[in-house]
Amino acid sequence: INVLLLCGGGGAEHDISLMSARFFTATLAQLPQFEVLKVELNKQGQYITEQGEHCEITHERQIRYHNSEIPSWEIDFALPCIHGYPGETGDIQSFFDLIKLPYFGCDAEASRNCFNKVTAKMWFSALGIPNTPYLFLHQFDQQAVANTQGALDKWGSVFIKAASQGSSVGCYKIDTSEDIASTLEQAFSYSPYVVVEKTIVARELEVAVYEYQGHVIATKPGEIICADNAFYTFDEKYADNSQTRTDVEARNLTHDQIEQIQAYSIKVFKGMKLRHLSRIDFFLTDEGEVLLNEINTFPGSTPISMFPKMMQHNGLSYADFLVDAISSQCQ
Ligand code: DAL
Ligand code: MG
Repeated sequence: INVLLLCGGGGAEHDISLMSARFFTATLAQLPQFEVLKVELNKQGQYITEQGEHCEITHERQIRYHNSEIPSWEIDFALPCIHGYPGETGDIQSFFDLIKLPYFGCDAEASRNCFNKVTAKMWFSALGIPNTPYLFLHQFDQQAVANTQGALDKWGSVFIKAASQGSSVGCYKIDTSEDIASTLEQAFSYSPYVVVEKTIVARELEVAVYEYQGHVIATKPGEIICADNAFYTFDEKYADNSQTRTDVEARNLTHDQIEQIQAYSIKVFKGMKLRHLSRIDFFLTDEGEVLLNEINTFPGSTPISMFPKMMQHNGLSYADFLVDAISSQCQ
């Protein structure tokens, strides 16, 4: 089976996608049944192999090289290792659907529904899963500033988030009125929709959810433990001197809390028709309230990322998981 490992992408998470792709290269190297071609989609939208050859993905499901001396390569299966646009936004999956190429991970519609923080929240509420109180803004104007002021008065502190970005890009915490207009303007520069969310002071828990042998499995929650007053920003996530610690299995949770979080994870995975994998992030407040924060349909697999570790900790190797996922699509 010829597997196209597509990485990079045009979004703010380009470099993170390259880090994640190294994990997939190493994992697939253990599996001789797969012939792997790694292609980077660079920031200019060009497809380039590791050897520096420019190429295209054709409607005949081939890699066609610009250098006509290199023969085309038949693609049997695609693994879109792209965080943010155009991977988690569903765009590349729509293209794969169009050319009838089977692929790893969530389909186009599920990806898009999760990636956009507005549609995601509508789904969470429709499925009866508690999530953080929020306000939805569709344009940057006086009314948006006034509504955000109202939210700040009510909640004391808010997060302003571009509706369709990941890895904390376009995401800002504000505590005072002076910052509202400039922060909204910045958030709107990333996305046509912005959400204003109540700042939740809570433990941050993450669950790896995956399909294996026809079952949807949710791991026990892991935990991100940030330094005081910090939130898990882009830099904090990937900087070498990060003050953040992660626990592959969160400590001091009650049996009921673990069960509730796993039940919500499976409910939203099935309800939103997710496929193969997702990392589902929760808050646990001091009052013991569980709130669904967000879903990452293509969770990071960098050296600091939780998803592969949680799966491994739950007794499944990523290699076995990939074999199962790829065989289920390539029959
Ligand atoms: N968006 C990053 C890659 C993550 O969720 O792991
Ligand atoms: Mg995230």
